[in-house]
Amino acid sequence: MQSTRIAGNGLSLNGELTPPGDKSISHRAIIMGSIASGSTNVDGILISDDVLSTKKSMEMLGAEFRFHGNRLVIKGRGLYGLAEPDEIIDAGNSGTTARILTGLLSAQNFFSCMTGDKYLRKRPMGRVIKPLLSMGARIWARSENNLLPMAIKGSGLTSIRYESPVSSAQVKSSVMLAGIYADGVTEITEPSCSRDHTERMFTHFGLKVSVSGTNVKVSKAEEFHATDIIVPSDISSAAYFIVAALINPGSEILLKNIGVNPYRTGIIDTLNMMGASIEIINKRDVNNEPVGDIIVKSSSLKSLEIGKDLIPRLIDEIPVIAVAACFAEGITTIRDAGELRVKETDRITAIVSELTKLGANVKELEDGMVIEGTGRLTAAECNSWGDHRIAMSLAIAATRAHGETIINNSGSVGISYPEFFNTLSRLRE
Ligand code: S3P
Repeated sequence: MQSTRIAGNGLSLNGELTPPGDKSISHRAIIMGSIASGSTNVDGILISDDVLSTKKSMEMLGAEFRFHGNRLVIKGRGLYGLAEPDEIIDAGNSGTTARILTGLLSAQNFFSCMTGDKYLRKRPMGRVIKPLLSMGARIWARSENNLLPMAIKGSGLTSIRYESPVSSAQVKSSVMLAGIYADGVTEITEPSCSRDHTERMFTHFGLKVSVSGTNVKVSKAEEFHATDIIVPSDISSAAYFIVAALINPGSEILLKNIGVNPYRTGIIDTLNMMGASIEIINKRDVNNEPVGDIIVKSSSLKSLEIGKDLIPRLIDEIPVIAVAACFAEGITTIRDAGELRVKETDRITAIVSELTKLGANVKELEDGMVIEGTGRLTAAECNSWGDHRIAMSLAIAATRAHGETIINNSGSVGISYPEFFNTLSRLRE
């Protein structure tokens, strides 16, 4: 088990960084490139454990991949060219792989089995299985059709109108992928809008997607032609350095080429409302996704009440927002974030207990937490709970904790940001 030590000497962060490619977009590029006819070139793809789980899964279904330097070339099999896997597909730690692929596999005329690591095998799959069953897929999963491993026998699907009880891009994308194989128009509505990378990438691949508020419609696809994709840097990975620069006095950093999709920028809106100095410059569009560069200067923060429709726009950033809140004047409340309990780990319990070890004044709520900004943390030995976002949030907290913090099980950063600790050290030099 890897452990990392971080000295909390309050060094400022200075310089430039280009974080790795967006994880959500990288998964989708691999999946869509695999069902396209022809070769899709993907530049800037994230190479991390989660994305490699998707790549390996699609290889088992017959797609071919080659790296030319940083460019990934995908030889797609066409919409109806995937092959029955002769092994169990292993989604590893990746919920996105498992949930989106369940939708794709539900539409394939063959039998497949899927599993995941010990964390993923605890996460709910019923949220995708339920709508897919009503489209006509046959799926068998553990624990009353809710947990991996699962078996899928695809068949001719029929379209549905589905009202999802959760705002989840994984659920929406799973149903959309099944929907492009189903007769008729498939519709999905969610309580509030989740990230729309699938909608944007379908459009980039030439499909028609209708979006109206929280409702998305797709039709059966006749053709799916390869195209080229450039993946922007992941705002969720940028978030750790944004918060680090804000809370360490004297910092100024430039984050380059960041995806600033409006359904992902809740972190920037929230921190700006807390008094942060964060500016997005050079805004541009790269294959239907907004991209910009971000300048962050250390700032005095104040507390905020965070909840409702904002939550899906910053769901993955809540652990690091909790770290920022420890250094914000006043009491920050985070609510309506019960979804955090079914992430890679229960992120509410995990971040509350680990920040408590660092001396934070933080209280767990059923659907969030309350954090008093005391402006002071003390080094301790803590644990990532095997979750990449907890590991990176603790590392940022450690930069401002008096003494040397030890983060156990820190290798989990490889899920989304293998170079994270090196980049943090470089910016603190
Ligand atoms: C993701 C959607 C979100 C997010 C996850 C990636 C995606 O999950 O937390 O890290 O790529 O679609 P939910 O769909 O469960 O909200």
